[in-house]
Order: sequence, then C-alpha cells, then structure tokens
Amino acid sequence: MIVEVEKQRHGIDLIKIDNNDTNIVFTNYGARIVSWKYHDNNIILGNKVEADEFYPSNPYHFGATIGRYAGRIGNATFKLNGHDYKLEANDTPHQLHGGSHGLDNRLFEYDIQDNITNIKLTFTIQLKSEEDGYPGDMMIKVIHTYDVEHRWTVEYKAQSTEDTVFNPTNHVYFNLNRDNNVIDNHKITSTKLNMYPIDETHLVANAQPIDLLKTLNSDSVCFKDIFNSDNEQLKQQIEPLNGLDHPFDIGNQELTMENNEFALHLETTMPNVVIFTFNDTTKWQSDFNIYKAHSGVTLETQCLPNDINIYNNKARSILKADEEFYSKTTYQISEKESENDI
Ligand code: GAL
Repeated sequence: MIVEVEKQRHGIDLIKIDNNDTNIVFTNYGARIVSWKYHDNNIILGNKVEADEFYPSNPYHFGATIGRYAGRIGNATFKLNGHDYKLEANDTPHQLHGGSHGLDNRLFEYDIQDNITNIKLTFTIQLKSEEDGYPGDMMIKVIHTYDVEHRWTVEYKAQSTEDTVFNPTNHVYFNLNRDNNVIDNHKITSTKLNMYPIDETHLVANAQPIDLLKTLNSDSVCFKDIFNSDNEQLKQQIEPLNGLDHPFDIGNQELTMENNEFALHLETTMPNVVIFTFNDTTKWQSDFNIYKAHSGVTLETQCLPNDINIYNNKARSILKADEEFYSKTTYQISEKESENDI
C-alpha cells in the first residue's frame, strides 16, 4: 500500500492511499473521506481535485465527521442530570449535526501510521463546551484505517470533562453505479430492517419501527421498491421527503448494499443506521452542484437520533465524565464475480 500527502489551500491536506484495485482519499478538513474508487469507478460522492473549494461550502456534508451529535435533537434542547441544555437550533426548531460549530468544518491534527497490511490515519481535535453549548470539553480522535482487503474502518475515541451526550457519525454518500446513475437500483440485505417513522420536521416521531422485510415481503429490499411501495404507512413516510431520511435497526449490526457489480458490506458497534437518499439536492447554489436527487445514499451509523429526549437518562448517547467513548464501523467493498451470476 502506498500513502502520500497533497497540500491544497487553507490548510487542507489530502491523504491519498493506493491499494492496487482500489484507492481512497481522506482530508484533515472535517476528518472526512473525499474519494473511494474501485478501478476507475467512484463509489462515493466527493471532489479530490478542488477539495479546498468544494468542501467548505458544501451543505450536504459529503464524507464528513459529524458531531457532537449526528442526528436531530428535538427543539434543540435536552435534559441531563436535571439540567436543561439549550443548543443552537440550526434546523429550526431542532438542532442537526451538532450545530454550526460541529466537527465537519474543523481542521484536525493528524498522523499517519504505515503498517504492513493497513494504513492508519489518526485525526485529533478538541471541542469546548463554550463553543457549542453542550456540557463538557472533549478530546476526540477519529481513526480512519484502510487495509489490504479494501476495508475502510472508522473508529471514534473520545472523553469529556463532564457528563454529556456524544453521537458521532460519518456522512459519506455511496453510489456503486458505474455511470453514477441514481441509487434506486441498490439493494440492501440484512436479517432485520426496521425503520423508525419520522414526523414532518424529520424528527423521530416515536420509537415504534416499521418492519420493512415483512412489509415488502422480502429478504432484501431495493430502494425503488421502498420508494414505489403501495403500503400506506410507507407511502406516508416516503412521499413527503421524496425518499428516505430514516433511522433503522439492522440485524446483527451488519448489512450489505449492492448493485449488479459491487457489494458494500457494513458492520458497526453502533445501535442504528440512518439511511438518507439525498432527496433534495437544490439547496447549494454552486457550479460544483452537479447532483440530482438520489445520486447517493448515506449509511450513517449512530445512536437513534433524539435518543436523549426519547430515552432520557437511559439514552445510549450519554457519555459519563472521564469515561472513554469508543465505536467502530467498517465498510468493505468487493467486486462481484460476474454480472451473469446475479
Ligand atoms: C442528514 C439529515 C438530512 C439532511 C442531510 C444533509 O443527516 O438527516 O435531513 O439534512 O443530512 O446534510
């Protein structure tokens, strides 16, 4: 494996890893993934040529580390240890992605470890309570590892000086199609695909999920079957959004997403996966915005959005002072044997 660093403007570095059949690029800006290719096929959305112009204004958070809290926090408030915290309502009336001082727009320190079977990039940053209104100052490490088996692993390690909530994710958008056609043909397989309904403000409405495998009567589901389903409950969720923006429970914390050529396998220690099918691509006025609806899909591993207001002191996202937060998610890409086998 080969690793090299390219410096762009504004302190933005690209860290490029070559692994024969695949190559992958990360940046210190938001500790994000910028590019991932299988031969000449881009399997994620991003821009490594003009990363220094593309990312600072991109409102869709391509490939970024999102935190402190990835999903929406209802009414931008939560209670912890009897204290009410009021956050910035950047997704009125809620908070989304940890607010505008979140991890996605920060320049991280980093170091590179070039091992025999993998390359490990450790990105480090500090967050101050006074900057974003969450309790506790935090030390956060985002560790991206790429290995000889074409597996990208992202680990988060963090500590807080006070009890707080912490729920980071990566906002990568996948598209396995060679021609970058819409992802409607991608199929997801897991032993469980339970989808949490959301309300008109995109907030988790209640904790009673819809069993998608049962509703669609299948072992695996294609996005176009979800989008075109006649099931009333599903239609009510899909139509107003033009797609998915929903948390899921998945079986054994793993799933596979595939088209006829590639399979992407995900495994995670986090309890949920938010699947967002890039439903509205019009909010970025930029020549860089070449994206149409459904041109990518996120598989964001995290705790249930708004869990702190749903489960209160039992919320999985609570991180106690001085305890270590750890999570790990892997995404592995492989080429299928032959299109005729499908
Ligand atoms: C998701 C969020 C979507 C949309 C998207 C774009 O995490 O659930 O509603 O905002 O990010 O950044």
